[in-house]
Amino acid sequence: MTREQTRSVTLAQLIDEAKRLLGSDADAMVDIRSLVTQLAGLDRARQLMEPERQLPSALAERLRSAFERRAAGEPVAYITGFKPFWRHEFQVTPATLIPRPETEHLLAWALEKIPSEQAVTVADLGTGSGVLAISLAFERPQAQVFGCDLSFNALQVARENERQLQPDSALPIEWIQGSWCGMFRQESLDVIVCNPPYIRPDDPHLKVGDLRFEPQTALVSEDEGMADYRQIIDQASTRLKAGGWLLFEHGYDQAKAVAECLTQHGFASISHRIDLAGQMRNTAAQKV
Ligand SMILES: C[S@@+](CC[C@H](N)C(=O)[O-])C[C@H]1O[C@@H](n2cnc3c(N)ncnc32)[C@H](O)[C@@H]1O
Repeated sequence: MTREQTRSVTLAQLIDEAKRLLGSDADAMVDIRSLVTQLAGLDRARQLMEPERQLPSALAERLRSAFERRAAGEPVAYITGFKPFWRHEFQVTPATLIPRPETEHLLAWALEKIPSEQAVTVADLGTGSGVLAISLAFERPQAQVFGCDLSFNALQVARENERQLQPDSALPIEWIQGSWCGMFRQESLDVIVCNPPYIRPDDPHLKVGDLRFEPQTALVSEDEGMADYRQIIDQASTRLKAGGWLLFEHGYDQAKAVAECLTQHGFASISHRIDLAGQMRNTAAQKV
């Protein structure tokens, strides 16, 4: 550690150090501000209004270490341990995908299919950190929600998120470890939401950015990224009740292949929605 680093520093000085490490373009500044918000508990307004604020040396060291981890490519969410989704901040770890804003569109569409006055059964397949299952349970407290994942470690994070976000009483969620919806009885579900792994194994994006740090089991699917959709659609066609809905997130170029598979399995009312970037990102279909 240099002499300069052992002196107490102001917020502005520390942010200058971060800029030297990470750059000062818009993306770098969002990362720097987010790390300061989460690790120093200073919201963006206070960061801008109090640049001369003195930071205790232990905090300054924690921030320097966070900036270095970010400079090495680690995602901000894994450094802070949190990611906002819908109405809450969710804990994330390297055992879980970092929830994406696109997935909030899937949640919004699912809510349109889940009546607020009926006790329906909803499964979130591949729940990861539990963002969909927990948000659905808060929005539709009369529903019975199942949060399912193959990964024991991801389910531990999802359970912990439920405990942190609703400390006084459990949400109506049952966490289940297993593969897709094979463990559900025939015609037992009203709605299935699912953001499965859908990236092709040879996609070069897997070798850059945040994807390098996320679990491959949450990202990659064989058969041009379609293997999991095919399995889920096959299983869902018998697990959903007649009139039930299956809603997917998928890759920007997978809507056609997903729709073809749904049609082959007898699903109807197939429709697509775009995300904020204008990409065809979600597909919904109804069991007849
Ligand atoms: C793309 S992540 C989605 C996580 C979370 N739903 C979200 O949107 O942030 C896919 C999830 O599917 C899980 N998964 C992979 N294969 C599975 C399987 N055969 N059965 C159940 N879950 C599986 C992974 O562990 C991962 O948590």
